[in-house]
Amino acid sequence: MTSRPFAPASAVLDAWRHDTPGCRDRIHLNNAGAALMPRPVLDTLARHVQREGEIGGYEAAEEAAAAVRETYELVAWLVGTAARNIAVVENATVAFSQALSAFDFHPGDRIVTTRADYPSNQLMYLSLARRCGVEIVRADDLPVGGVDPESVGQLARDPRTRLVAVSWVPTNSGLVQDAAAVGGVCAELEVPYLVDACQAVGQMAVDVHELRCDYLTGTGRKFLRGPRGIGFLYVSDRMLERGAFPLFVDMRGADWTDPDAFRLADGARRFENWEFAYALVLGLGEATRYALAVGSAGGERAWALAAELRERLAALPSVRVLDRGRERCAIVTIDVGRHDAADLKLRLRAQGVNTSSSDRDDGVLDMEAKGATTVLRLSPHYYNTEDELAAAVQALAELIRP
Ligand SMILES: Cc1ncc(COP(=O)(O)O)c(C=O)c1O
Repeated sequence: MTSRPFAPASAVLDAWRHDTPGCRDRIHLNNAGAALMPRPVLDTLARHVQREGEIGGYEAAEEAAAAVRETYELVAWLVGTAARNIAVVENATVAFSQALSAFDFHPGDRIVTTRADYPSNQLMYLSLARRCGVEIVRADDLPVGGVDPESVGQLARDPRTRLVAVSWVPTNSGLVQDAAAVGGVCAELEVPYLVDACQAVGQMAVDVHELRCDYLTGTGRKFLRGPRGIGFLYVSDRMLERGAFPLFVDMRGADWTDPDAFRLADGARRFENWEFAYALVLGLGEATRYALAVGSAGGERAWALAAELRERLAALPSVRVLDRGRERCAIVTIDVGRHDAADLKLRLRAQGVNTSSSDRDDGVLDMEAKGATTVLRLSPHYYNTEDELAAAVQALAELIRP
């Protein structure tokens, strides 16, 4: 890529970029895929792996016990709960399946969800339909986009409803579903509520009490800027007190007390698995500490950059911005006419611009509604600059020039 001017908006932006070695030579607009980790996270990961090599994996984990405990406190603080309500798991998908598996679904039971829920979540619902005869019903969207909480209410009022599950920020389209309004509906109907906050954490304030959810899932690597391969699950006191536990509880989640009996661990730990990638757990803690220090300014800047990006992209001939919803977050999705998004992604990457692409399988309902077959996703974060956006749009414009 040709050299481009770097014009930091402020000393704060300068500091964020200084902490982010990955932004030196690339324009990283794939933060909804995996954001660039800041230096303190990279150092934490390297230090722990080094220590495992020096003294042994189990020994290094014991040495790091206090920092591991702190990870729970930090994640809990980030989402407005207590450490005992947080389970650290491999990723958001595992968090989601652990939560789903806590329900004893029977034929005819109902899961109410949305049209924009994450594809892996939709697959899990369909698997439950096939294996257990669960009925999957999807609430209507509002005309502006995103689920209509009233429609959720109408469907969830059916006494067969066992769960409402919503992807707060779906993987594409800048959409922010009204997860708090759905939470209000669920609380009124006393129906358990599972929120996929995978794309929300790190770009929005998350408060499980405001959402009134029973379970909430998150991942390390996206807007939170943690490492890959680590995530978390929030479990409400209500569910814990009710004795909820995952179907395949392991020996971290329970004690085998008698040949035919087990006792559940206290707190959300019962949703965890025994083997932990401790370096990643510590990296998650460090990323959370970093996100808390950045505060709400980070998400606000990411959203403002996304709004600017939408405007710049909409001005390009043959680009259709597909984003919907009353509020639009830091995920920008476009259809580029006759161009294949996967190919464009690779050609942009060759020029130092990171984006991502999706096709129909990544959102059957969503893509059909938009009349798109492949889409390109650009997701800025607070450490991106306005100059980077201009350079990325220019690179795209040249690639799609007729
Ligand atoms: C909305 C949403 N939910 C869940 C996930 C799954 O996260 P993970 O890959 O950490 O399991 C993703 C990943 O892209 C996502 O976009």
